[in-house]
Amino acid sequence: MTLGNRPGSGPRTALVVGNWKMNGDFAANGSLLEALRASIDADLLARVEVAVCPPYPYLAQAATALRDSGIALGAQDLAAYANGAYTGEVSAQMLADLGCRWAIVGHSERRTLLGETDATVVAKAGRALDAGLGVIVCVGETLEEREQGREREVLARQLDALAPLAAAEATDFVVAYEPVWAIGTGRTATPEQAQAMHAFIRERLASRGFAAAARLRLLYGGSVKAANAASLFAMADIDGGLIGGAALVAEEFAAIARSAALA
Ligand code: 13P
Repeated sequence: MTLGNRPGSGPRTALVVGNWKMNGDFAANGSLLEALRASIDADLLARVEVAVCPPYPYLAQAATALRDSGIALGAQDLAAYANGAYTGEVSAQMLADLGCRWAIVGHSERRTLLGETDATVVAKAGRALDAGLGVIVCVGETLEEREQGREREVLARQLDALAPLAAAEATDFVVAYEPVWAIGTGRTATPEQAQAMHAFIRERLASRGFAAAARLRLLYGGSVKAANAASLFAMADIDGGLIGGAALVAEEFAAIARSAALA
């Protein structure tokens, strides 16, 4: 669907993405995928793009289960290298080969737990785009950074590193604002807090050469649930969500997608 023709923005199709993180097994995924197919139908998918990002070992299972459903598939990460002697890594080309439409990069769990730098994040995002995948780049400040009043400074650094990708198509380049203090904590940013940061992100990208900034989808992530999704998606610069825990419950995830379609 089109999220209005708001002043200063172009039409943007809502996008709701489930990041399953390191959860699930073959049996549980089978049930979840079947329930998603049943509750996210063509009518809904005409108004909102929906994708799920299972762990790598289950991408093939999900590709089969979601075939012709209209629900897209994404990966939670990818290698910064094209191919070759990189034990344990998975390339953009492999993900495209498996039917992935999207790859998430720069999730805060990877930045903080696994030491991913801004340079790694832009390299991975570039690989994804080169392979024809869409990329969802995560940015966000920690609680400490927010308490110090440094949230804009942190986001500016994370966003400025993406400048080499400024020519990316609006359909394929998505930024997810995920304040680290709101991830898995049950503590959501208020719609107003999130909107302020989304507006900042759009302006910063425009100032760094992203000609398509007005048309880029900006997702909010961090304790999004069916109960709070509508108020977040009602904000002018919140074009959908990146959903963690609630993406593992089919009815919650479908309800979030419906909220995005109605926003
Ligand atoms: P929660 O929805 O579980 O807070 O996780 C958000 C997230 O990190 C999505 O990438």
